[in-house]
Amino acid sequence: MAFVIAETCIDVKDGVCAQVCPVDCIYEGGRMYYIQPDECVDCALCVSVCPVEAIWPDDELPAGSEGFAAVNAEFFGESVTGWGQPGGLEEAFRTDKDHPTVAAWDSGGG
Ligand code: F3S
Repeated sequence: MAFVIAETCIDVKDGVCAQVCPVDCIYEGGRMYYIQPDECVDCALCVSVCPVEAIWPDDELPAGSEGFAAVNAEFFGESVTGWGQPGGLEEAFRTDKDHPTVAAWDSGGG
């Protein structure tokens, strides 16, 4: 299991989740943050601090958000960043790229 960031993070990007993560497995993309599922240690600290309740266990994602487990995982794959398992957030691992699902997301406010 890993935690997953879902669509309510898009264009909000509060960022406090990345500050509290003890293993720095939460990475910044263009419109949202993404959790590296193989680095996540399932501590759940991020879940309680997110102001928009964007973070869920991958097997408990709400209806309509199930696709975000793949969105988080694929962000680290060759089709988006190619980072694989960076081993912890640092300046070299920030990007304005997003997973295609997120890049195309219409969050309503233009
Ligand atoms: Fe996004 Fe919530 Fe983190 S808004 S950046 S998942 S604290």
